[in-house]
Amino acid sequence: MNGPVLHPASIVLTGIGELTTNDPELGTMRDAAVVITDGRVAWVGPSQRAPAADFQLPIADAAVLPGFVDSHAHLVFAGDRSAEFAARMAGEPYTGGGIRTTVAATRAAGEDDLRANVARLVEEAARQGTTTIEIKSGYGLTVDDERRSLTVAREFTAETTFLGAHVVPAGADADAYAALVCGEMLTACAPHARWVDVFCERGAFDADQSAAVLRAGIAAGLGARIHANQLGPGPGVRLAVELGAASADHCTHLSTSDIDALSTSDTVATLLPGAEFATRSPYPDARALLDAGVTVALATDCNPGSSYTTSMPLCVALAVREMRMTPAQAVWAATAGGAKALRRTDIGHLGVGARADLVVLDAPSAVYLAYRPGVPLVKGVVRNGELAWQR
Ligand code: NIG
Ligand code: FE
Repeated sequence: MNGPVLHPASIVLTGIGELTTNDPELGTMRDAAVVITDGRVAWVGPSQRAPAADFQLPIADAAVLPGFVDSHAHLVFAGDRSAEFAARMAGEPYTGGGIRTTVAATRAAGEDDLRANVARLVEEAARQGTTTIEIKSGYGLTVDDERRSLTVAREFTAETTFLGAHVVPAGADADAYAALVCGEMLTACAPHARWVDVFCERGAFDADQSAAVLRAGIAAGLGARIHANQLGPGPGVRLAVELGAASADHCTHLSTSDIDALSTSDTVATLLPGAEFATRSPYPDARALLDAGVTVALATDCNPGSSYTTSMPLCVALAVREMRMTPAQAVWAATAGGAKALRRTDIGHLGVGARADLVVLDAPSAVYLAYRPGVPLVKGVVRNGELAWQR
């Protein structure tokens, strides 16, 4: 792929071997072309009938798919927890307690160091095909540190999430801290966030505290999302559905009634296979969710403790191998599913009018994302109609 250096008003990608559109009418097309005008998909159809454009980008029979939508990432942090990972692989359990280690390192870091770390990870994700990324706070846990995390995150994405209720800081009283999150901290953070999130789990926040945090966030104009049912069964998924949350994330330990509740709701189940991988936890059964009619998304959960990966292709491969998804279901979940988890209609698909975010693979089919795990298959990334990266 030899792309233009300038950003032309219109580009036509021709000779696409397999085009995954996620558009119900267009489906998956062979020998296709896409015209991009002013950052949007303007035309999709057979390659021979492609209209002219300012620039032509021949794709040489490769696969093209929508850019990945990573709807769950914790990128504002400092420090390293590789020793904790090694200890886990030697048999230690994951409890979430290491979050406080990262909180201490994040508070001690300068803002420029935090910004540089986010920039590094956003760039790393982009090279693997991510064109939209959600970024949470949650390693500050004071009013100023949470606000700082969100203002840094906002420099990189519109999809910022206030996660002041990540864990109760060392030495604090849980109810008093939850009240701070719902009050002064929310007031300081809401202007910089689109979403509110809470870690609803034994050892973090219980059902009442979690409900209070999400309700306060909603009242402040934020959309709700939740870390639910990660370390064990619990009330998180039920709460997500009751409060109309956009997404319940992790969903590692679900009951039949959790699945029933999700299946009749608009709440997306966002599965995070990197977390099961790096905590040696059993994987959730995505196929059971899909069979019940639940909308499933895949995301990285990138963070220094439980899932230190920015790779959506890895998540696709793990979901296929370990969660009983087909390759097509996993690719949909990593693109359109992520868009639904962020309640976005302009991304996650390549129908006419979509934001022109797409990935060109060095492979004939998107199946290769799972078929050739660990291989850097992303050859080029177009974001907002501009060539964001190419190999
Ligand atoms: O989504 N579960 C809560 N938060 C993160 C873990 C964060 C950490 O261990 O630092 C998660 O897995
Ligand atoms: Fe998370």
